[in-house]
Amino acid sequence: MMTLRLGDTAPDFTVETTEGKITFHEWLGDSWAFFFSHPADFTPVCTTEMGRTAQLSGEFSKRNTKPLGLSTDTVEEHNKWIFDVNDTQNTTLNFPIVADADHAIAQLYDMIHPGESETAAVRSVFIIDPKKKIRLTMTYPMSVGRNFDEILRVIDALQLGDAKRIATPADWRPGGDVIIPPSISDEEAKDIFPQGWNEIRPYLRTTKV
Ligand code: BEZ
Repeated sequence: MMTLRLGDTAPDFTVETTEGKITFHEWLGDSWAFFFSHPADFTPVCTTEMGRTAQLSGEFSKRNTKPLGLSTDTVEEHNKWIFDVNDTQNTTLNFPIVADADHAIAQLYDMIHPGESETAAVRSVFIIDPKKKIRLTMTYPMSVGRNFDEILRVIDALQLGDAKRIATPADWRPGGDVIIPPSISDEEAKDIFPQGWNEIRPYLRTTKV
């Protein structure tokens, strides 16, 4: 198994999900993916995360991003669990969950960390762009639920960076000042950022977009 790194092509796979069989790259089409794994069905932290993803379905759609969950159980178990997720989190789960009972996809994406558990996936996140490139990875332990504000924020930052050739500073929020990357010279920056910029240091230039 190879370590997956930023900029790698996300491995393709065909698998059963709660919404039928999918081939990942084809299913993704021209969208971004939020691909996230869970230790197991019918566990408390996972239930809240699945619910939160469903509640945020409008926010993911606005960002042309399709959620895809994974847990190392069967479609039958997933479907029973979805009933509980909807009931307890007051939502309607409307994205596929990969059935990975044989751990094939979890292995492919290095989601099993034996030091944490030999059999269950940790909380991995892969943000994948429409060219199928891995743009962000995060790995959370089993005992800590993910921060969904951060997941949306990072998708916003990646998409803005692609569109406007900028980087984002610590704790950036949409609407906040952005950074002109050092790879863009002042000469080039005059064309790309006619609104000008604030030069705090020659390597630290901020602007508004
Ligand atoms: C959970 O998803 O709730 C969970 C899973 C494994 C360990 C602790 C919590």
